[in-house]
Amino acid sequence: MEIVPLAEGFGAELRGVGLLDVASSDAAYRQVRAAFEAHSLLLFREQQVSDDVQAAFSRAFGPLELVKVGSIGHGTFYSRLNNRDADGKIVPENHRQIWRARANQLWHTDSSFKQTPALASVLSARTLPGAGGETEFTSTRLAWERLASERQERLRDAVVTHSYANSRDQIHPELMTAEERAALPPVRWRMSWRNPVNGRRALYVASHAYAIDGMGDNEAKALLAELIAFATPPGRTYLHRWRPGDVVMWDNRATMHRGRPWPVDQLRVMVRTTIQARREDGLEEMRPAA
Ligand code: SIN
Repeated sequence: MEIVPLAEGFGAELRGVGLLDVASSDAAYRQVRAAFEAHSLLLFREQQVSDDVQAAFSRAFGPLELVKVGSIGHGTFYSRLNNRDADGKIVPENHRQIWRARANQLWHTDSSFKQTPALASVLSARTLPGAGGETEFTSTRLAWERLASERQERLRDAVVTHSYANSRDQIHPELMTAEERAALPPVRWRMSWRNPVNGRRALYVASHAYAIDGMGDNEAKALLAELIAFATPPGRTYLHRWRPGDVVMWDNRATMHRGRPWPVDQLRVMVRTTIQARREDGLEEMRPAA
C-alpha cells in the first residue's frame, strides 16, 4: 500500500489497496485502519463501487448507521445525496433537496446530533456535475493543536449541545419536518475528542452545535462560530475535486467538511455510508458526567 499525502498535515490517497481488499482481508483492513487513524481522510481512486461494495468496506470499521427519518434512503444504510426527484428529474431550485444540499454546505461533522455519533463517513461519487460539487475538508485535530495551551485547558472538557435543527433552521424554517424534530432531540458532547490510538485530540464542533454549558447563548454561539472559523481558514483546508470512481472516507472525530455548490440544472448523485462510533473509538470519554 502506498500513502500519498493530500494536504498539509492530513489526508492521504491510498494506492495499491481498494474497497474490496478491505472488505475481504483482515490484513488490508488493519493497514487501512492505521492510515485512517493517522491521516483522518482517505481517498481511493478508480473504484468499481456499488452499494454492496461500499457497505462491505464500511462495515469493516464498525456498525453502520441506518439513515434517519426525513432523509433519502431512510431505514437503509445508504444516504442518497442528490438533486433528482422520485421520477429521476432534476429538482427546481426552491426544492427541499436543494435546501438539504445547502445545509450540507455548512461546515459540519456527520451525526454529531445523534445519540450515537459517527466514527467515519464513506462517500462515493456516482454522477458528477460538469463544474463545482467538490467536498471541502479541514482537520479539527490540527486546529486543536494550534490552540494556545491555556485555551485547550479551558475548552477540553467543555460540554456542547448539538441539534440537527440548529443547522437546518439556518437554511429554511420548513427544511426540518415535525417528525424529524421529534426524532432528533438535542445531544451533549465534550468539546474535544481524544483518539485512543494515538492520543491526539481534535476540536469537536459543527454547524449542529449551538450551546455550551455554563455560558450565555450569545457568548456560546460567538465562541462556536469563532472556533469553526479558526479551524477552516483559507490555506488549511483540502478541496476534493471528485473524479468518477472516487471514494473518500473521513474521520468525523477529527475533521469537519462541507459540500460545495454546483449548477442547479446539473445532476449530482453521491452515496454516503456512515459508521457509528464505539467505546474503542473514544466514545465514552465524550459523554459529559450525568
Ligand atoms: C456530506 O455532508 O456528508 C456530503 C458532502 C457532499 O455532498 O459533498
